[in-house]
Amino acid sequence: MFRDVTGQYISSIAGGENVRAFAPNPLPPLPPLDLNGARQALLERATLALGRLDSVGVLLPDPQLFLYAYVRREAVLSSQIEGTQSSLSDLLLFELDELPGTPFDDVVEVSNYVAALEHGMARLREGFPLCNRLLREIHARLMARGRGSDKAPGEFRRSQNWIGGTRPGNARFVPLPPPEVEPCMTALEHFIHGSTGNPDDNLPVLLKAALAHVQFETIHPFLDGNGRLGRLLIALLLHDGGALTQPLLYLSLYFKQHRAHYYTLLDRVRTTGDWEAWVDFFLEGVEQTAQGAVQTAQRLVTLFQQDTQRTQASGRAAANALRVLDGLRQRPLCSLRQLCHNTGMTFPTTTKAMLRLVDLGIVRELTGQRRNRVFVYDAYLNILNEGGEAL
Ligand SMILES: Nc1ncnc2c1ncn2[C@@H]1O[C@H](COP(=O)(O)OP(=O)(O)OP(=O)(O)O)[C@@H](O)[C@H]1O
Ligand SMILES: [Mg+2]
Repeated sequence: MFRDVTGQYISSIAGGENVRAFAPNPLPPLPPLDLNGARQALLERATLALGRLDSVGVLLPDPQLFLYAYVRREAVLSSQIEGTQSSLSDLLLFELDELPGTPFDDVVEVSNYVAALEHGMARLREGFPLCNRLLREIHARLMARGRGSDKAPGEFRRSQNWIGGTRPGNARFVPLPPPEVEPCMTALEHFIHGSTGNPDDNLPVLLKAALAHVQFETIHPFLDGNGRLGRLLIALLLHDGGALTQPLLYLSLYFKQHRAHYYTLLDRVRTTGDWEAWVDFFLEGVEQTAQGAVQTAQRLVTLFQQDTQRTQASGRAAANALRVLDGLRQRPLCSLRQLCHNTGMTFPTTTKAMLRLVDLGIVRELTGQRRNRVFVYDAYLNILNEGGEAL
């Protein structure tokens, strides 16, 4: 649906140039979102897929394990959109924190993303509301170390920014002037809490997340990290709104795969008020991504069963190898020292058990060194890595 006015242009100055900055109308859209039959059906399919993902998250033998892996996979993918070159193994190696060498900025950014998401989840579990203060706290973590640390971590911006183009005058889009950021974010907060006073803000959580994400990107409240925070906002909103017990749905891969279209749809909401095209794209992404996540979970369960059986059948002392395998399921990239710690077995026993897994072709040594060796559960990591290849 096209809506004539979806905001106002305010003249502002950026980089010494006069620009037209866009101030969006507060949510919900006016006239209300057109939930025709096809869109309603899409919403139902996406909701169903999300429900399946939620139950898989709960029914898995070890839901924490799945969450651990998924959060890191998401951190890598979401940070890749911003252009970092880190892989999942880089992140896991970095987290081992016993390898020499200074970490490079990319992996620090990915690691910040994990910390930011975990902080958000922990605060929500404490009962803290999903509010602007929490968004700023999460932003502070996201930008705590590495390249973002000079981009006002945890603060709304105080300068005029722009998106696309080489200078403000030829930008694709100029967001709100700085003084308007705070009030606009407060209005978004009211929308998220369903307290705008407008009966149309009482929307299903999936629609709410769809609308809030765009509004957040349009406001662009921070100097940097708006994309990553806006993607985190979706995960947190779905959790907070009761759609997902664990934060297991991430649209980063979908946005990455359809990046040009994703940006075009963001533009169209602003320029023609076409919220519906965006909502359709979003709901399709939710359905596809949730289905993909369920399949990934099923493939991991099958892999673990197969490898357990192969290890069991490997003869004497299989029990020790099984304990190491279990440790690798918790951390698919692991040092012997860490595994000793996790399994409670001695260093020689752990080493022997690990070499058995290497012989079975389940595990591979990564460093080629004699000391401080690191082992990787390849098939597990490969499943998680899918879609995460460089852009
Ligand atoms: N034309 C556009 N209109 C509105 N929002 C846009 C447009 N193009 C990009 N964006 C949003 O801006 C985000 C990028 O902003 P920013 O650089 O602050 O965030 P980031 O987290 O550092 O980057 P990225 O999202 O690339 O990882 C994009 O992810 C997208 O959500
Ligand atoms: Mg950026």
